[in-house]
Amino acid sequence: MSGGAGGVLDYPGDFSRLLREIERRSGLHLEGYRTSYLKRRIGVRIRANGLGSYDEYLEFLRRNPEEYRRLLDRLTVNVTEFFRNPSTFRAFERKVLPELASRRDIRIWSAGCASGEEPYSIAILVSEFFGERGRRRVRIYATDIDSASLARGIKGEYDLKALGNVEPRLLEKYFVRRGRRFAVVPEIREMVLFERQDILRRRWVRFFDVVFCRNVAIYFSRDSLEVLYRNLHTSLRRGGFLVTGRVESLTGEVKQLFEVVDSREHIYRAAG
Ligand SMILES: C[S@@+](CC[C@H](N)C(=O)[O-])C[C@H]1O[C@@H](n2cnc3c(N)ncnc32)[C@H](O)[C@@H]1O
Repeated sequence: MSGGAGGVLDYPGDFSRLLREIERRSGLHLEGYRTSYLKRRIGVRIRANGLGSYDEYLEFLRRNPEEYRRLLDRLTVNVTEFFRNPSTFRAFERKVLPELASRRDIRIWSAGCASGEEPYSIAILVSEFFGERGRRRVRIYATDIDSASLARGIKGEYDLKALGNVEPRLLEKYFVRRGRRFAVVPEIREMVLFERQDILRRRWVRFFDVVFCRNVAIYFSRDSLEVLYRNLHTSLRRGGFLVTGRVESLTGEVKQLFEVVDSREHIYRAAG
């Protein structure tokens, strides 16, 4: 084990071979992620299993297929909550929803939706804004690469811990208590379609009015960021909106593809 680039612990052995095997088995497209990120995350699993090299870990994976699940949990960070960064949702309500009001059908994409808290938050907000009849014009597409997270989203039941930002009035209106958990009501669930999808591979063309892609790009390499934001731009209808995470910013050439709507909340509009 040695200190590698950027202070990441490195291990002896063939890292590329390990990545190829993980890609083949999991379907994850790892070349899009930063090497330091991958080494840090895989290193956690190497240590957890008391191993000392990338080759040993590859052997271990082959002998213990259940380790793939734990590794994938590590590689795809699924931390999320309802109304994460509440001020972003307030800005979205103030600056974006009024512009969409005149449209007959509205498509919103939660790209990298994890276990569904983000798309359901959008559905609740939209429902409050457009009312019971108006919300029928809205479809929310929720995609993620991690099937286990998607399964939790489809189930739509959450602990209180995920619901800290939900106003009591909205909790009462849009959730049903099931023991110690809270289930999203059917009217909100029906607005959201979940699908497994690698954001770097699948391309939509002029399909969405809004894309939320928050806290996903932080793990991507510089080249993949370029691919990602170009894909997101292509996926938007003319004048559509992009919402990124508070810690993510558009840099380099892709900056020209978007105009800033709210610099603090990272809301953009597709240019051209
Ligand atoms: C930290 S969560 C963000 C969830 C939510 N957007 C939020 O901001 O609270 C990041 C999600 O991105 C997903 N993800 C990572 N790489 C992806 C890819 N290439 N395609 C689709 N989803 C990906 C992960 O599986 C994870 O669920």
